[in-house]
Amino acid sequence: MKAVICEQFGLPETLVLKEVPSPTIDANQVLISVVTAAVNFPDALIIQNKYQFKPTLPFAPGGEIAGRVIAVGKDVSHVQPGDRVVALCGWGGFAEQVSVNANRVFKIPNTINWQIAASTLYNYGTSYHALKDRGQLQPGQTILILGAAGGVGLAAVELAKKMGAIVIAAASNQEKLNICLKKGADFTINYSTEDLREYIKTITAEKGVDLVYDPVGGAMAEPALRSLAWKGRYLVVGFATGTIPSLPFNLALLKGASVVGVFWGAFTEKEPALSMQNLRVLVQMISRGDIQQEIYKVYDLNNASQAIRDLMDRKVMGKAIIQVKEEIENPSIDAQDQIIVKETTVHKMQAVELPVSFLNKSALLKAIGTSLGTSNWLSVDQTMITDFANATLDKQWVHIDPQKAAKLLPDGKTIAHGYLSMSLVSQFLYQMIHIEGVNSFLNYGINKARFINPVQCGDQIRLHASISTAELQDNGSIKLFINCNMEIKGKNKPAYVAEIISLIF
Ligand SMILES: NC(=O)c1ccc[n+]([C@@H]2O[C@H](COP(=O)([O-])OP(=O)(O)OC[C@H]3O[C@@H](n4cnc5c(N)ncnc54)[C@H](OP(=O)(O)O)[C@@H]3O)[C@@H](O)[C@H]2O)c1
Repeated sequence: MKAVICEQFGLPETLVLKEVPSPTIDANQVLISVVTAAVNFPDALIIQNKYQFKPTLPFAPGGEIAGRVIAVGKDVSHVQPGDRVVALCGWGGFAEQVSVNANRVFKIPNTINWQIAASTLYNYGTSYHALKDRGQLQPGQTILILGAAGGVGLAAVELAKKMGAIVIAAASNQEKLNICLKKGADFTINYSTEDLREYIKTITAEKGVDLVYDPVGGAMAEPALRSLAWKGRYLVVGFATGTIPSLPFNLALLKGASVVGVFWGAFTEKEPALSMQNLRVLVQMISRGDIQQEIYKVYDLNNASQAIRDLMDRKVMGKAIIQVKEEIENPSIDAQDQIIVKETTVHKMQAVELPVSFLNKSALLKAIGTSLGTSNWLSVDQTMITDFANATLDKQWVHIDPQKAAKLLPDGKTIAHGYLSMSLVSQFLYQMIHIEGVNSFLNYGINKARFINPVQCGDQIRLHASISTAELQDNGSIKLFINCNMEIKGKNKPAYVAEIISLIF
């Protein structure tokens, strides 16, 4: 395969495009055919050995990609060959194929195009976490965003505006500021020519700003800190200038202010549930067109080093991206056959497929026909079957006596009760659907059901679901009818098809 290779640490001009062997995957990894890759600031640092992660030479840079799954390791269940995914791979993405740890791979809806998919998670994920979780930004508050036309800066402009803030965008030239205005900035400051502090005093009638978002560092940091209002928060996001500022602590004391660090990568590792919730909201906003990444320019693999150079020269506004190949419809079977899957002992990865999200329960009323996608696989074992028999007092030997089943049943395995696999629907639905502000919903009925194929002990099952009808009730709750099809791995007939009823409060 073709890849842009860093053979020795240095500037972008030292990168070479060459043929290299395709990557292999471990049991918990996913092999992806890269369609589009995004160019991020760490790509410029990692090739110079200035980033916190230091891959061994030679390697391909490129930490964020979108593509199609070619193959998965034996412990991966949330994606499968052919799926459209985005991945935060760290490096390796400026190549035709990349292998990525499964927990950094996310399935994406068909409604998000490749370029938006590849270029959104990193910038918007960082800025949403910064504004919401670290900055506690509230509607009506004023925020100053430095480097506002850069990758994370422009995402912060757009998100802060959506969150109801008054946005002051600061950047080094008018062209950049015009993009910030297009994304909704209320005021702009050209910090190459204007006095940042004086201008903020004027805009805020001497009060100062509630929040500073700083991905730039260097000389702008101190005037920005001095521009904070009482109890303001200074978000330390990055140091694009290359200079980590040293700031007088007395300013924090005098303003009752907080200096707050933002480290999105660590946040996704240490707080995966909250991070996943943020991603759900962002995917929803992207799907609805509420936010849209600004694409500066599309490069190809031949020009990947130029893309990094343009980023370093402060030319990029929004995001530079690399179109690695045109969309492939289906991964080639030959390619799958050639994949070498190394056997390793690793723990099973957590599910990371993004559930279908609704901003509120009323949105369900417009979602008739919407597919809720497919759940993860679940293995049905004897403990589960026996527990169900004990709970329901239905202790027929076909369920609970493996020795008798081995002698008497055609396949020699005990059979899960039909209502056991039916009762798992709610567990699967919690994985698949997220409704903002709704923490629980009640599955209370089966409208119609047809049991087709028995689920045997040791089978893996998963749910395919879609919304068939949604009805508003007098008390404001929503009655949701969900079409369910329970697939059994390796069998051509489902366990059952059914329409179940959920009540959403
Ligand atoms: N904390 C986190 O979790 C996190 C996550 C993502 C990124 N980051 C960090 O945030 C920073 C910005 O990332 P980004 O992706 O937004 O980068 P970017 O797209 O290149 O934007 C950086 C902006 O910084 C300004 N800048 C000032 N001096 C610069 C210099 N010497 N070289 C390059 N840019 C300079 C530029 O705006 P003007 O020309 O208008 O000054 C540029 O638009 C980086 O340090 C990155 O590592 C941190």
